Amino acid sequence: MINVIGLGYIGLPTALMFAAHGVEVVGTDYNEELVATLKDGRTTFKEDGLDELFGQALKAGITFSTEYQVCDTYIVSVPTPYDADSKKIDASYVSTAVQTVMDVAPKGATIVIESTVSPGTIDHFVRPVVEAHGLVVGEGVHLVHAPERIIPGNMINELLHNNRTIGADDPQIGERVKELYSSFCQGEIAVTDIRTAEMTKVVENTFRDINIAYANELAKICRQDGMDVYEIIRIANMHPRVNILSPGPGVGGHCISVDPWFLVGDYPMTAKLIRCAREVNDSMPDFVLSRASEIMKERGIEDLSRVGIYGLTYKENVDDVRESPTLQMLESMERHLATGFCKIYDPWVTEDIVPHQVHSMNEFLQGVELVIVMVGHSELRSNLSVLEGVAVLDTRDACGTAPNIYKL
Ligand SMILES: NC(=O)c1ccc[n+]([C@@H]2O[C@H](COP(=O)([O-])OP(=O)(O)OC[C@H]3O[C@@H](n4cnc5c(N)ncnc54)[C@H](O)[C@@H]3O)[C@@H](O)[C@H]2O)c1
Repeated sequence: MINVIGLGYIGLPTALMFAAHGVEVVGTDYNEELVATLKDGRTTFKEDGLDELFGQALKAGITFSTEYQVCDTYIVSVPTPYDADSKKIDASYVSTAVQTVMDVAPKGATIVIESTVSPGTIDHFVRPVVEAHGLVVGEGVHLVHAPERIIPGNMINELLHNNRTIGADDPQIGERVKELYSSFCQGEIAVTDIRTAEMTKVVENTFRDINIAYANELAKICRQDGMDVYEIIRIANMHPRVNILSPGPGVGGHCISVDPWFLVGDYPMTAKLIRCAREVNDSMPDFVLSRASEIMKERGIEDLSRVGIYGLTYKENVDDVRESPTLQMLESMERHLATGFCKIYDPWVTEDIVPHQVHSMNEFLQGVELVIVMVGHSELRSNLSVLEGVAVLDTRDACGTAPNIYKL
């Protein structure tokens, strides 16, 4: 039996996937409301295919609890934020979870850390927790790192088909955990040591962040001299060895906007390009604001109260708002004491989380003269005609071209 600890965006689909493929699973989370919802037969976030997978896992016998279980394998999938000052990983969620696992784990158990961690975290923060319980890592308890790579919006498909990494300092344990993940994973599974697995995961997300920053910086450069960055990238990408990403309003979510900071925090004198990329991407919400002001001036729109924001989530077709560029932009406005936008709408965010939020496209568009599209949800892409009467700042290149559509 396995006990999955932390049933959020990663832990829940992982637990369900194991259960649907014949593994006995108990999912544990300390959030009582979340566990009550799952026990009640409802999922806790929106994701393509999640409800169907939930149904299969229930049929296969998955159960949910706020209690940690006595079992032979634990999979820990709790948050790993960074400390705002030092930029280093805040490993407190991971070490607290492992501490509680150690209170119930039998001798010989394997603890798999799925959470993304900076290189050295398992040695510096997890190993001491095990040793404080009087056990020796590799004898009394085995530690493994199995970082997750799935992307929200395509999680179920990627859980099944992505290649994975298993980091274990004992190759036999690595092979055992590989076999466990092979119950559902059809991709290739590389087995390596823990430190390499930790670094590999952080390096992957940092690669994405740097490449996004390059596109974003190009957008700023091109804007200064009226060049069309989209046309330039399109043509540059016709080169056989060039593949520039699209610029956007910034980077959010719990991964790409967080993990590169771990390297900056741990290697401050060396990780210069990485820090710079983070700063470029974090500057984009302000760039969007200044671009919106330019358009407002050009169109004689007097104040921000005639401007609406479409999109609160950090990417399209998900309900996750963590670190989203829209929230970053609203925070920046608050810091500069700017007056608020008149309306904010996101079809994926049904709860009120910011002031002036509305819950239908019709209500959103009434009285708005400029719409800033911060997220290219399919709902909008498939119904672009609704934007015909307004000016649009399309930060995601999602709205096609027309005289009323402005780009970054
Ligand atoms: N969200 C993503 O797209 C994504 C993708 C790849 C990797 N990751 C990594 O996966 C990890 C988890 O991220 P997430 O997005 O699922 O986070 P999340 O916040 O959605 O879920 C974490 C869950 O852990 C629970 N939790 C925290 N501490 C606990 C404890 N001590 N005991 C029991 N439950 C506890 C919380 O209540 C929460 O439900 C992070 O390290 C993240 O970097 C996330």
